[in-house]
Amino acid sequence: MSHHYLLPDISQPGKIGCSLPALDVPPAELPPRELLRQELELPEVSEVELVRYFTALSKLNYGVDTGFYPLGSCTMKYNPKWHEDIARLAGFASIHPLQPEESVQGALQLMFELQEYLAEITGMDATSLVPIAGAHGEFAGLLLVRAYHQHRGDRVRKKILLTDSSHGTNPASAVMCGFEIDVVASDSEGNVDMKNLESMMNDEVAALTLTMPTTLGLFDPQILEISRLVHERGGLLGADGANLNAFLGRVKFGELGYDYVQLNLHKSFSTPHGGGGPGSGPVCVKENLSDFLPSPLVTGSNGTYKLMSPAKSIGRVASFYGNFSVMCKAYAYIRSLGAEGLKEASENAVLNANYLKEKLKPYYHLPYDRTCMHEVVFSGRWQKAKGVHTVDIAKRLLDYGLHPPTVYFPLIVDEALMIEPTETESKQTLDAFVEAMKEIAREVEENPEILHTAPHNTPVRRLDDVRAARNPDLRWQMRS
Ligand SMILES: Cc1ncc(COP(=O)(O)O)c(C=O)c1O
Repeated sequence: MSHHYLLPDISQPGKIGCSLPALDVPPAELPPRELLRQELELPEVSEVELVRYFTALSKLNYGVDTGFYPLGSCTMKYNPKWHEDIARLAGFASIHPLQPEESVQGALQLMFELQEYLAEITGMDATSLVPIAGAHGEFAGLLLVRAYHQHRGDRVRKKILLTDSSHGTNPASAVMCGFEIDVVASDSEGNVDMKNLESMMNDEVAALTLTMPTTLGLFDPQILEISRLVHERGGLLGADGANLNAFLGRVKFGELGYDYVQLNLHKSFSTPHGGGGPGSGPVCVKENLSDFLPSPLVTGSNGTYKLMSPAKSIGRVASFYGNFSVMCKAYAYIRSLGAEGLKEASENAVLNANYLKEKLKPYYHLPYDRTCMHEVVFSGRWQKAKGVHTVDIAKRLLDYGLHPPTVYFPLIVDEALMIEPTETESKQTLDAFVEAMKEIAREVEENPEILHTAPHNTPVRRLDDVRAARNPDLRWQMRS
């Protein structure tokens, strides 16, 4: 399918979008004929038509700048435009990674201070900024676990324990590092089932990876006990820190007993997430892992900043230094909010999620009815009993002009609806979302068909998700 289904076909033979001046230099020689493509048929359009075509397409986009975006777990968050300006400053944007260190002292200072801020925020001892995505940070963290055990001569620890609510990247990262996986169950409260953990935590386990708050949006109050058990039996405790915005300025992973945590700067620190753009997944560690960190790190003394490689570094996990522009935005976010501002951000994130929880729980089943953190997970099981599925609810929200929450994750919640409002949304926006969700709950009772066939007023109707994933239509094609 081409995107002609969105707009009329404007291509007509003979139309021209730009005209080049007459050639006033000798013509360059073309590559040999056999290398030239004959079949490349491009649309023929005028300049204004082309501009209108792309402008119209751009208006079909939905994003945080157009409306509420309550996508849980991987949410789009606050990303002030002036942080983009900071990242675009010539001194940051126009430098080259191979420039001599003495000519990029400002950039190195920013990286050094960001390493320190992130270590302070997480309660860890050292940070590597190099990993370029959340999953990549998990991967780097697990390579540290492997190096740590190997260095101690312990070669039997081949397993990583994960919980059944884990994000999909957690098992994937563990397998990529050559580990086997065992899954620890959650109990009826959504916490780690301690008996289950107790029975699985043996001398084959290299580490437990435990997202905190969990992907059920809950804080597990047993965390100190979990940490004690894991360490007593020779394992390490790692956090998927993608949910840090629930904790910012309040709770430190280091104080909860974690040995390492990966952060998603492109989620918690002002770079938009969800668009597949550049990410940054720093890994922060306690002293026991700091010698193994991926290189390079930035050191600083007497106002001079240098790149260095830790003594037993696992080496490089990405080219050069990671995604520097994301680091610039994270730095700007931390410096502009300050310690108090970061605290306020997490407070509002948690407040907003709990507000939605209370407002919506008469209408949607709440499997874990307790104070949540920055996100809340409902189940669409009441609606399912009436023949309407969570996917129908998500599609119907589009008719109300709202981006749907994350659906069908975490996997342990039937018909999951995972809502993360973020800290910057006003009560007015949250109330409008609540009204839409209440209205949809009423429609389930009175007119379920309208949900089965939703969306009704979007530029495209319900798509075949599987086909879209398997046969993506990514380029313009001439209509046959
Ligand atoms: C809980 C959790 N862990 C890990 C990730 C992976 O992060 P990334 O998409 O940057 O690889 C995400 C988001 O995608 C997440 O929500």
